[in-house]
Amino acid sequence: MMKVLGIETSCDETAAAVVEDGKRLLSNVVASSMDLHVQYGGVVPEIAARSHIEAIIPVIDEALRQAGCSWEEIDGIAVTQGAGLGGSLLIGVLTARTLAIVHKKPLYAINHVEGHLYANFITELGENLKRQNPTYKLPTSQPEFPFLGLIVSGGHTQIAHFRGHFDYELLGRTTDDAVGEAFDKVAKILGLPYPGGPSIAKKAFEGNPDAFQFPKAKMPNKYDFSFSGLKTAVLRAAQQLCGKSHDFPSFELSKLLSEAQKADIAASFQKIAVETVVDKVVLAYEQLRPKSVIIGGGVAASSELRRQLAERLPISIEYTDIKLCTDNGAMIAALGCYKAMLKQAEADPYTLDIAPNLTM
Ligand code: KG4
Ligand code: ZN
Repeated sequence: MMKVLGIETSCDETAAAVVEDGKRLLSNVVASSMDLHVQYGGVVPEIAARSHIEAIIPVIDEALRQAGCSWEEIDGIAVTQGAGLGGSLLIGVLTARTLAIVHKKPLYAINHVEGHLYANFITELGENLKRQNPTYKLPTSQPEFPFLGLIVSGGHTQIAHFRGHFDYELLGRTTDDAVGEAFDKVAKILGLPYPGGPSIAKKAFEGNPDAFQFPKAKMPNKYDFSFSGLKTAVLRAAQQLCGKSHDFPSFELSKLLSEAQKADIAASFQKIAVETVVDKVVLAYEQLRPKSVIIGGGVAASSELRRQLAERLPISIEYTDIKLCTDNGAMIAALGCYKAMLKQAEADPYTLDIAPNLTM
């Protein structure tokens, strides 16, 4: 039995969780400072960092309490080293380093983006958690190697081919905005609340996805993504609908657009943004014929993404609970378990540094 405490503070969520043997979720605690960022339409790094300082110790204590385990029973500490906001990462890494020294535990540095995929390895709930929160919808089995992993969130859009644990090739990634970021920016243009993914999905229900023909970027690497052109195309369409020129400020547009126009833009944008992602997954699937396809990141919640993937892939995808798709400590703990079980290198608790620009 291997119990790992995972700590995640890369963005606005302060999160900790305990995972056993890389598959059993014993606890999962997330404190978000999202409420404090909504009025600014996006995460403010200084506010996020300050919120982590306040929340980190109570969140870790609660994760241990919920798991019903003492420090003696913890076999290792896994912490997000990057990618993420520098100030936010620092709080998690410094806390994990301190705890590793004080409690004499091995420390594992985790790549946040790899972590998102490892949420899909969690297939069981511990007895304690089952009693406290039985609402988790987990996959019925773990992903099979080789698998195709797609990470779609507010900060990341990447696709990778995994032959085994710690043996993968990054196929492609976004060259500008992440797909979730594109949803957030388009939502801002349309005057819809942050985060944009869910609010665009809701508005899109009332709209016609074929009302506008937005472009899909053509990339030199066929697996890379780009969303900035799509975002600009949405802006131009909105300006044109309002009879305004290219230099008309985007934040003034939502007052001039009708609800029907907003719905049509939301639906047309959502369709193309999702199609852009699904095109690459289908292409990679046909080329590599993996045994499983797994999705990580907040955009995995998108019903349009799930619909298109189900329609175009010959194998079905098992999605994990949305609580494990968005940022959480469980995915970090799960990957930490595999690092520990497969004897990967430990981090030095006296020197481990953050890596805000860490890539896969
Ligand atoms: O993984 P996550 O919680 O945070 C990051 O690590 O970035 O992902 C948040 C992103 C936001 O950009 C949000 O707009 C997007 O996930 N999102 C969605 C949906 N729900 C959340 N995007 C599209 N459709 C959704 N239903
Ligand atoms: Zn994330």
